[in-house]
Amino acid sequence: MTGSSDNVTTRRYAAPGRVNLIGEHTDYNDGFVLPTNTGLYTRVTAAARDDRRISAEATVFGETAAFELDDAATMQSSGWIAYVQGVAAMLMQDGARLCGATLRIEGELPLGGGLSSSASLELAVAAALLGIAGEERPAPRIAALCRDAERRYAGVNCGIMDQYSIACGKMGAAMLLDCRSMATTFVAIPDSVALLVIDSGVKHQLPDSGYNDRASECESALRTLNEAGIAADSLRDVSPSEADACRDQLGDVLHRRVRHVITENQRVLDAVDALQRNDPLRLGELVNSSHRSLRDDYEVSCREVDELVTIANSCEGVFGSRMVGAGFGGCVLVVTDPDRLDEVESGIASRYGEFRGERPWTHRVTATHAAGEITDR
Ligand code: GLA
Repeated sequence: MTGSSDNVTTRRYAAPGRVNLIGEHTDYNDGFVLPTNTGLYTRVTAAARDDRRISAEATVFGETAAFELDDAATMQSSGWIAYVQGVAAMLMQDGARLCGATLRIEGELPLGGGLSSSASLELAVAAALLGIAGEERPAPRIAALCRDAERRYAGVNCGIMDQYSIACGKMGAAMLLDCRSMATTFVAIPDSVALLVIDSGVKHQLPDSGYNDRASECESALRTLNEAGIAADSLRDVSPSEADACRDQLGDVLHRRVRHVITENQRVLDAVDALQRNDPLRLGELVNSSHRSLRDDYEVSCREVDELVTIANSCEGVFGSRMVGAGFGGCVLVVTDPDRLDEVESGIASRYGEFRGERPWTHRVTATHAAGEITDR
């Protein structure tokens, strides 16, 4: 939709958040992920300027920040503007001829909640900067540029899952993404399953969390396995028996990290099978087992998230639940019987509210579009 005030033409862009059904911390190990998008957005209203300045207002923070496009690649910044600057820098490095812009950014996603508020911001800004400059890029290319922006400018050594899901997702389906070949298969989410997200209230800050440590541990484990004679280009290539045979060389911690990646990749493929066979009970088992692996082997959960999962799994109608996204706090995904959604949502919220002293934010995952310009939606 285009609008106009004071002779300035504005255009509106939006990017959803993503909820990963299963396949956590596998993307940067060339593995499999199964995200879907949900109807919570980052929205950007954009107006072109005559100069080369990007002036952005982030309404959730009540802050405005600005930079010159020609300084975007080299400027030092931090906080939310680093994501805007990084996206501008990567798009220009890719040859996009951007123009100055005034941006108003509004977000609905919980920050640090594991629903990809960062990638949603990146994709919404990318759509806006490209759109008002009359530039186009294929969605997978935009996803890769936004991932690079986060790595280089926000200091998070993230994988491709979030940006790819938000840029390329399809309404009502989960996307099986092979993060090595980038092959995608869309898998319908059957009516027998409803997805609920509940915020533990513990915020993660990925640049400062253990996220980068986990990525380094995986690199270190791969080097150790290679030195032990295992021919693997990434942890995705390692079999359970190879990992077990190298247990002494890896040591307990790295062995558990590798075990999580190997077993989680298999769980993604098994979850696709469960969705295709319309088997919500099996899907729930896989989701529960993913949580245990993230908690015990990968060690990216926390006490509050574990409590929320325990509460969720004690409710009638819940098939399974687990931490979602990077971890270290954030939201829990609950896979539940749609006929019991109301009681499940209110039951978990009230019991977790008693534990935490505050009723948690909850969200029912709804089908949505990928990132782009807002037209009639
Ligand atoms: C964050 C990262 C993703 C992915 C998840 C964990 O969301 O941005 O690339 O690694 O954590 O699965």
